[in-house]
Amino acid sequence: MDWGMRNRLAQLIQRDGRALFLPIDHGYFQGPTHRLEKPGRTIAPLLPYADAIMLTRGILRSCVDPTNTKPIILRVSGGTSVVGEDLSHEGITTSVKEAIRLNASAVSLSIFVGSRYEHETLMNLARLVDECEDYGIPVMAVTAVGRGLEKREARYLALCCRIAAELGARVVKTYYCREGFEKVVEGCPVPVVIAGGPKVDSEREVFEFVYDALQKGAIGVNLGRNIWQHDHPVAMIRALRAIIHENATPSEAQQLFSEIKAEAART
Ligand code: 5RP
Repeated sequence: MDWGMRNRLAQLIQRDGRALFLPIDHGYFQGPTHRLEKPGRTIAPLLPYADAIMLTRGILRSCVDPTNTKPIILRVSGGTSVVGEDLSHEGITTSVKEAIRLNASAVSLSIFVGSRYEHETLMNLARLVDECEDYGIPVMAVTAVGRGLEKREARYLALCCRIAAELGARVVKTYYCREGFEKVVEGCPVPVVIAGGPKVDSEREVFEFVYDALQKGAIGVNLGRNIWQHDHPVAMIRALRAIIHENATPSEAQQLFSEIKAEAART
């Protein structure tokens, strides 16, 4: 592997082999998502605890100070919206030249396996990998689930992850599933991170599924709404960081969460 590729991957995946990516790219098809109306404000207190942030070029340019030194995972696919006909009809929205200009450490793109536009999104990935490999830029494939594609089960997720890796993704983001998640990771020869999905009611549930995913081989998370839509986002990200980088159990993470929350209430 080239020095540049290795160096960029090392910026993202920490020395312990783990990673906590903070995605704030949701607006690219959802618009001003709840609690992400002002992305710069949302991420300011969270940045110190993230290993990298994932976002589009527009939000990077307009909401993140260029003196920021957190690694950037630049979302480069899109072209659809929640009110459009088909979320899977994505194209590549941002050039590799632009990713280099923005000093991205990686780029990310969604694939929609089993959708009407499966072929197009898989070819988008293959072409992006071809171009990015020339410049030592890792591609993180996002195994997306769109409308009608809510197949969060091991067989489907394993299929998506393996295809993404076969087409050259250096990292794959997928969803967690309670049954058989280890098979998803085992079948994927590159590191796997999990998204969180829509916000769930209790933080304990998030700690449990992140912990379980790590036990089953995931290297970390690319987890957004369950952090920044929470009423206590800093306590959330710090507790998750403890699970990912300090091997904290869900109970220890819950304890830490409560302490940070109580401390914030006192100050
Ligand atoms: C949107 C994405 C998100 O970055 C990803 O789903 C992670 O965010 P969340 O934890 O909120 O699901 O790729 O398409």
